[in-house]
Amino acid sequence: MVSGLTKNRVAAILKITEDLNRIKDIDSLLDRVLLEARRFSRADAGSIYLLENRKLRINYVQNDTLMRKESGVKFLYQNHEIAVNDKSMAGYVAMTRKPLIIADAYSLGDAVPYGFNRSFDETAAYRTRSVLTVPLMASQNRLIGVMQIINALDENGQTVPFRGDDELVVAYFANHAAGSIEKAKMTREIILRMIGIAELRDPEETGAHVNRVGAYSIEIYSRWAANHGVPEGEIKNVRDILRIAAMLHDVGKVAISDTLLKKRGPLDPGEFMQMQKHVILGARLFRNSTSDWDDMAAEIALNHHEKWDGSGYPGKVDDVSADDWQPGPGKKGEEIPLFARIVALSDVYDALSSQRAYKECWAEEKVLDYIRGQRGRQFDPDLVDVFLSIYDVIRAIKEKYGDN
Ligand code: C2E
Ligand code: SIN
Ligand code: SIN
Ligand code: FE
Ligand code: FE
Repeated sequence: MVSGLTKNRVAAILKITEDLNRIKDIDSLLDRVLLEARRFSRADAGSIYLLENRKLRINYVQNDTLMRKESGVKFLYQNHEIAVNDKSMAGYVAMTRKPLIIADAYSLGDAVPYGFNRSFDETAAYRTRSVLTVPLMASQNRLIGVMQIINALDENGQTVPFRGDDELVVAYFANHAAGSIEKAKMTREIILRMIGIAELRDPEETGAHVNRVGAYSIEIYSRWAANHGVPEGEIKNVRDILRIAAMLHDVGKVAISDTLLKKRGPLDPGEFMQMQKHVILGARLFRNSTSDWDDMAAEIALNHHEKWDGSGYPGKVDDVSADDWQPGPGKKGEEIPLFARIVALSDVYDALSSQRAYKECWAEEKVLDYIRGQRGRQFDPDLVDVFLSIYDVIRAIKEKYGDN
């Protein structure tokens, strides 16, 4: 199968495969896999579907054309499932486990069983033409999903059909990437299970909440970073670790008593003091830092209830291990680490728009009024502006990770 590839291309693929093993977060990994597969085949767009409960669920989308449009990012948060059968190209490839090249998705002809669903194109005003779909196979011939690469481009940016050697490169690459994808998926599942243990005790906070907080946080960060001229490579590296670190902001609640977590109604001052300890307890879990990832998780766990105007908690903490901790004067403004300021906003937006043991969910307009009203008080004003400027993306995330 390698025969159609030049030595250089193979070397490049192997080099990337090696890089992939270093990426921890499943979304960053899918992002990288798709980007490289598209780069090798000069394609405008692509998606990765992973097999979940015997269906193909769309897990990752890229689209350069839509990204050039002002409101493009929201289309990346699609949420659809395709059956493994011969009715769609992706389903057919999952069924047959063989790559498929299509010159024009809008003229498939009557000779093939599958059709093309134009509904995404119609909402996004996109035209899918050439499509290359490959199975993602892990070890022991297990199918883990499919990768679909869309609209190969020539030098002038015109859509052209994929070539035979694109199929070889993308399929070869898909096979090498599948193992890393499987590993990252397991890491994500283990983390979700850890969070799940905490949630067993705080039943109003669902997995959907942490998924949303993670996704809001990386999108707020990305726009903030683009506004501040942070290089794209760095943005990607941060996204990789920020999502998981943000998802873990409340792990310290595992050590808080059930009576408090499940209390219906307001906490008295002594109880609230106990509750505030969750930020210290969370930071303790990551204190023996072995990686950037632990550092970020510790920083977020400790500081996600600080407020821009200094009225938050826990304030300056010399030693998270000390037992006699008392809240001090809050950190203020940029004393609060950026990532904690971001998670503070994501977390409160989500807490207000959800139901909790102690509160009903607020209407969306009331939540937005609150956030605007707390600009420069509870929240970093710059981040509130960023949040409002990507509000369409925030809503798309909210729909994608609705309560389950
Ligand atoms: P949480 O439920 O995840 O809430 C996160 C943060 O969202 C809160 O941090 C607060 O900043 C904001 N928030 C949530 N609900 C409201 C609200 O109704 N009004 C306003 N203005 N802000 C709200 P906070 O206050 O530091 O609380 C941390 C955690 O302590 C909460 O996490 C929750 O687990 C617990 N908690 C706080 N207040 C109460 C309460 O009155 N009763 C109970 N049972 N638990 C509470
Ligand atoms: C879809 O976008 O719904 C599926 C495309 C395909 O036919 O594979
Ligand atoms: C950082 O990346 O945490 C520094 C940027 C800031 O805190 O404003
Ligand atoms: Fe918290
Ligand atoms: Fe939370």
